[in-house]
Amino acid sequence: MENLISLVNRLQRACTALGDHGDESALPTLWDSLPSIAVVGGQSSGKSSVLESVVGKDFLPRGAGIVTRRPLVLQLHRIDEGREYAEFAHLPRKRFTDFAAVRKEIADETDRETGRSKQISTVPIYLSIYSPNVVNLTLIDLPGLTKVAVEGQPDSIVHDIENMVRSYIEKPNCIILAISPANQDIATSDAIKISREVDPKGERTFGVLTKIDLMDKGTDAVDMLEGRSYKLQFPWIGVVNRSQADINKSVDMIAARRREREYFSSTPEYKHLSHRMGSEHLGKVLSKHLESVIKSRIPGLQSLINKTIIELETELSRLGKPIATDAGGKLYMIMEICRIFDQIFKEHLDGIRPGGDKV
Ligand code: GDP
Ligand code: NA
Ligand code: MG
Repeated sequence: MENLISLVNRLQRACTALGDHGDESALPTLWDSLPSIAVVGGQSSGKSSVLESVVGKDFLPRGAGIVTRRPLVLQLHRIDEGREYAEFAHLPRKRFTDFAAVRKEIADETDRETGRSKQISTVPIYLSIYSPNVVNLTLIDLPGLTKVAVEGQPDSIVHDIENMVRSYIEKPNCIILAISPANQDIATSDAIKISREVDPKGERTFGVLTKIDLMDKGTDAVDMLEGRSYKLQFPWIGVVNRSQADINKSVDMIAARRREREYFSSTPEYKHLSHRMGSEHLGKVLSKHLESVIKSRIPGLQSLINKTIIELETELSRLGKPIATDAGGKLYMIMEICRIFDQIFKEHLDGIRPGGDKV
């Protein structure tokens, strides 16, 4: 099944690459039909921290204030062995093995698009990470929802961010990671508000409660985590990310995870929930959910690709062969890629007929 997800990752990348070559109508449809996971929530609720924990790597700019200013489309690919590395779509063929350099490149590439301001941009950054230590997932880090514009930002920023976030999470195939800080009233959660808007039944929303360690003395998150405060279809998952002091001291991921595990297993209030708390558990739940979504989508994707091939064939024969024009060449290339994917899907489908087990 992991192969299947990495296949979808490859397909998604191909669509992205092809998307850069023009606005062929079939491609956005293809892209939209593939599942992904987006992180939403208020500014500094811990979105980037949660993503980092799921990945198990330090590579995202995070901190107080507006840090994430462009969407980051992150594809994780599990490799069997070898050293992990990262690649940006805007820097093809350059392999990053130093993840501090990845973080710097995200920040630099953000500045390239927006200037060194507090402006945001809707133009995504595409990053792939290849590692033996990740599960196969496509994740999207998004700028935080805000209530007011700060200096250097246009007044429209509140709505601009909201619209951008909505444009990602309104897609029926988007799995929403709704990040709410435990030290704020859930009734004011921006994450819950916007995800409820696009997914009223909570069928594709996972509630993540951050900053449990920062709650006021004498209060705890048990009612939230047990679904009594706000019920979602899937159980809430509590996490403890690194604090700003930890970031300043460069506390590493492994130490942070160990501490998180200890926190849940040794705090009396959370002990009975500890098996379904924490970043590692979140990663596993997401991977499992994504697999079942992809499994249910493959037949639909396959017929979409077949339809695309037929459309492209019609278009090509209308243009006439041999193809000399630019347009024809492009269509031809896309059709070839679709054919290859169709073939791969056929191979994979044998193993994953809906309702049937993997062979
Ligand atoms: P984002 O703006 O939503 O992406 O949030 P960040 O991940 O950048 O985190 C914002 C700030 O909150 C950083 O200083 C983090 O260290 C801190 N933070 C995030 N999650 C937690 C948590 O669970 N516990 C503590 N103590 N601090 C956290
Ligand atoms: Na922040
Ligand atoms: Mg962020």
